[in-house]
Amino acid sequence: MPKYRIAWMPGDGIGNDVMDAARIVLDKIAIDAEYVPADIGWEFWRTEGEPLPQRTIDILNSCDCALFAAITSKPKEEAEADLVPELQGKGLVYRSPIVRLRQMFDLYINLRPCKAFKGNPLNLQDGIDMVVFRENTQGLYAGVEFHPLPAEVRSVLEAHSPRMAAFEGVPSEDIALSTRIFTRAGCQRIVRAAFEYADKFGYPTVTLVEKPNVIRETSGLMVREARKIAKEYPRIELWETNVDAMVMWMVKNPQNYGVMVASNMFGDIVSDLAAQLVGGLGFAASGNIGDKFAVFEPTHGSAPKYAGQYVANPTAMLLAVKLMLDWLGETETAQALEQAVAAVIEEGRVRTYDLGGQDGTLDVARAVAERL
Ligand code: NAI
Ligand code: MG
Repeated sequence: MPKYRIAWMPGDGIGNDVMDAARIVLDKIAIDAEYVPADIGWEFWRTEGEPLPQRTIDILNSCDCALFAAITSKPKEEAEADLVPELQGKGLVYRSPIVRLRQMFDLYINLRPCKAFKGNPLNLQDGIDMVVFRENTQGLYAGVEFHPLPAEVRSVLEAHSPRMAAFEGVPSEDIALSTRIFTRAGCQRIVRAAFEYADKFGYPTVTLVEKPNVIRETSGLMVREARKIAKEYPRIELWETNVDAMVMWMVKNPQNYGVMVASNMFGDIVSDLAAQLVGGLGFAASGNIGDKFAVFEPTHGSAPKYAGQYVANPTAMLLAVKLMLDWLGETETAQALEQAVAAVIEEGRVRTYDLGGQDGTLDVARAVAERL
């Protein structure tokens, strides 16, 4: 039996193109793994009314981790209109498969390394090596929201917070409420993951990106827990920052930062900023990681206009493979892959259109494989 069982989920559009690129590189690396194809994406929504079929969940449950490329999603009305006629008018609702996977497998870490590879013409600055740890399951994206504001909720808020006086006289149907729920354990586990990573890969600092001076209770809890955890890592310094100032510093002096940690929404924002500093969608990979399972993906979407043309930049996908190898414990192989990717970028001989080149997706993968 192979050492690893890896679910293989190309999804839609250029997802297939970049996964073919990943396969060229994985075949060259030849880790002892079995790749198990699993259905996910728009095609299965359209024909089955389910973008994440149960058979895929069964496969995922039998695997060590998953590689995922990209899926298409569309607004509510278009989603309904795309369904095959037999499925229309049945009240089926499209829900994002990746969000569901995060919840289903408690993938509480969203890991986004952003490195400025030498010679990448899309780098906005050189010398960047940032790694964002974004909390992936709680906070403002947990989906605990109300509109109109239910009377019971309102009366509890009024009884417990003098600040509610500011909304006195506003009808409940004119009030929308989105909650930002943090748990102590939720704060602890994301901060600990950031410190562990800094420790393992030798980063001297962990920067906490929150807003405790204004959002006192949730950001405050995160800061207090971070200070306690930091004591266990005397070699690593904890830097506490406010998210608004932080985005300015990230543009001005991104080289000063290494590992960063933030709650769901702030992490979402700073990780997109960090990604753009080092070349944007063609270069941004992420890991959705839990204690027992993980899903690795490029952060770009299915770019339908390029689907099947094999022109998309596979670098983000190859860097997702690198993150997977790290997580599996194949650290040296991961390192070698990153070095091969870096060498191909620096050499600049094989380039996709986004870098001003004319080479195809698979040409880049072959160039990386040759370097390995
Ligand atoms: P997108 O990321 O698919 O593409 C936006 C543009 O960025 C493309 O038109 C292309 O010019 C460029 N681009 C993206 N990836 C590239 C690559 N690897 N190489 C070179 N250029 C690249 O975002 P868009 O157009 O907003 O969404 C298209 C579809 O993808 C939608 O259905 C959307 O819902 C979905 N999507 C899925 C995501 C996922 O699977 N995680 C994430 C973002 C969007
Ligand atoms: Mg985002």
